[in-house]
Amino acid sequence: MSDRAGLVIAIDGIAGAGKSTLAAALAERLGLEYLDTGAMYRAVALAAVQRGVSPSDGPGLSEIAATISLEVGKRVLLDGRDVTGAIRSAEVDATVSEVAAHPGVREALVERQRQWAAVRDGAVVEGRDMATVVFPDAQLKLFLVADLQVRGERRFAQSAAEPAPGAVAAALARRDEYDSNRQAAPLRPAPGAKVLDTTNASVAELVDQVLGWL
Ligand code: DC
Repeated sequence: MSDRAGLVIAIDGIAGAGKSTLAAALAERLGLEYLDTGAMYRAVALAAVQRGVSPSDGPGLSEIAATISLEVGKRVLLDGRDVTGAIRSAEVDATVSEVAAHPGVREALVERQRQWAAVRDGAVVEGRDMATVVFPDAQLKLFLVADLQVRGERRFAQSAAEPAPGAVAAALARRDEYDSNRQAAPLRPAPGAKVLDTTNASVAELVDQVLGWL
């Protein structure tokens, strides 16, 4: 057993603030696995597009969330097919927040997230409701923020398909607004969460700061 046995680090925050990057870097330093729960909501949104199920169809989407075969690691496998790139498409970006707002979708994915963690001896998990809902007993809770313009520029730099940094930033802001104002598990810092502004920090600086809190 490592000295990090059973450690859970829960990372939430706004879109494009660097949650996945920080989660991956922390997991590597600590010898833990990490789970990108946004990829799970994206996979459900993609499956819905592929099956012609509307983002407003709660029961249809809940059925998808409960029954698809889903593996989220370095690659994302949906019913055995590699959808790592497809879940980042503009179509999924445009529908995923509405898909994620349905309580039935969230119930099914939260169950999968807890099962994923239950068979691991500690983990870094990231999303929108990790510390508020899914892992309220996490030893360390982080809430990441960053300036909108910087988030738009970072996302734009990652994807050749995006129109322009300003348009990317506007889409991120729309998603934040939707995710923060939904009824089910709205995006917000959990009590006791440490708020980290990643606007001007390097990944290495952030990792060192977080490790200092353990
Ligand atoms: O982290 P991301 O941008 O890939 O997440 C995509 C969407 O999924 C995001 O707009 C809100 C939703 N989501 C959620 O509701 N709860 C989570 N734990 C993770 C993501």
